[in-house]
Amino acid sequence: MMILLIGSGAREHAIARALARSPQKPTTVCFASNNNPGIQELSAYFTMGDIKNPQAVVSFAQQYGADLAIIGPEAPLEVGVADALLDAGISTVGPKKALAQIETSKGFTRDLLKKYNIPSCPRYRVFSSLDGVSEILSELGEKYVVKFDGLMGGKGVKVAGDHLLSHEDAISYCQEMIKRGGKFVIEEKLIGQEFSLMSFSDGDHLAHMPPVQDHKRAYVGDTGPNTGGMGSYSDSNHLLPFLTEEDIVQAQEFNQATIDALKKEFWEGYKGILYGGFIATVDGVKLIEYNARLGDPEGMNVLPLLESDFVEVCLGIVNGNLNQKDISFRNQATVCKYAVPEGYPDSPVKGEPIDISEITETSQLYYASVDMQDGQLYEAGSRTVAYVGIAETLSEAEAKAEAEISKVRGPLFHRTDIGTEELIQKRVEHMYKLRC
Ligand code: AMP
Ligand code: GLY
Repeated sequence: MMILLIGSGAREHAIARALARSPQKPTTVCFASNNNPGIQELSAYFTMGDIKNPQAVVSFAQQYGADLAIIGPEAPLEVGVADALLDAGISTVGPKKALAQIETSKGFTRDLLKKYNIPSCPRYRVFSSLDGVSEILSELGEKYVVKFDGLMGGKGVKVAGDHLLSHEDAISYCQEMIKRGGKFVIEEKLIGQEFSLMSFSDGDHLAHMPPVQDHKRAYVGDTGPNTGGMGSYSDSNHLLPFLTEEDIVQAQEFNQATIDALKKEFWEGYKGILYGGFIATVDGVKLIEYNARLGDPEGMNVLPLLESDFVEVCLGIVNGNLNQKDISFRNQATVCKYAVPEGYPDSPVKGEPIDISEITETSQLYYASVDMQDGQLYEAGSRTVAYVGIAETLSEAEAKAEAEISKVRGPLFHRTDIGTEELIQKRVEHMYKLRC
């Protein structure tokens, strides 16, 4: 079987590894946006091109006779790469453009949840002018969030008390978005603990992955600017220490209700991965956002634990029989830590050499935004490499990840606190205080 992988970050490196473990021994070809030596090693053909150009992707797929395509990142989904591949007769893991609005438009998602009475939605309104902005801000008081209604890599969201210190600040951010010609959403600020619950979807049936907690802030102690995610962990019991089992069941039910709503709305199924970014609050689990793909870093936590054949999972997604597949994950804890360029995310250094030669156990080292020239690895300006510690307990997994990621040499930094008992205990106490 010939499988086309689109994208070339650490998440796609994890996908390539999951494919390589398949007993069906598929051949992987990769249409990449950067030179990822990890994926290159696992691919029969590796070509760099514009992954946001549907025709370029289809031509590559046809050139190599791809039977199945897997779209890693959100950008190709937004421009209809799945639609173009399906039109060319290539089965695709990744939703069509209209269904991918679940990620690409925050307003669309909020309206969908409201229309289908899915009780995961905070109070919100969608705007394209300042009309009504002051009113909703007065209603919400100090508890508001303002979001650009489009893909911004997490950077279009501004939260009261964090990035916006007054209603005047909020209004000037709204004006900025109006100037850019975009819509925006103002919604209630939710207080609680965030977690990610990703599900494989064949349009009707879901297979849920273990929940994961990501860390968006750049620096130790959850300080500094928001990033694409500095690291993440999952626990061996497939729960999270600050959540109840009911919280996770609730999130799974929200994902199923959303898939059902999408089918009713578009008369066709969502085939790919639905990633719910949830928050556990005193009023139950609420949805912060949906993504239409695997999380990065969350994908690196769950894919290495997948006991089942990933190719079978993909076939279940595209053929609509995911419910007939046996999908299970190993009961182990994982901690993923990213090393990122100095200055990331606002002014990252770029083009600097890095050295990973001290890492001896490379099976859980994932390449992300790197470049390789004449055998030398360089930072390419975003999250650089990730390491996933896998063990029976979270503390052992954390110790492994910390030991290995610390061996990466160069102008980089990582968060030493991700997955530590101290930080996890803080999350547990925060949730306990809210609930009592
Ligand atoms: P998003 O791109 O929607 O995931 O937002 C990025 C980050 O902003 C989230 O991970 C949250 O930390 C924060 N955020 C977004 N929406 C809300 C909300 N309604 N209440 C509290 N925090 C939020
Ligand atoms: N972990 C955040 C994301 O994948 O969007």
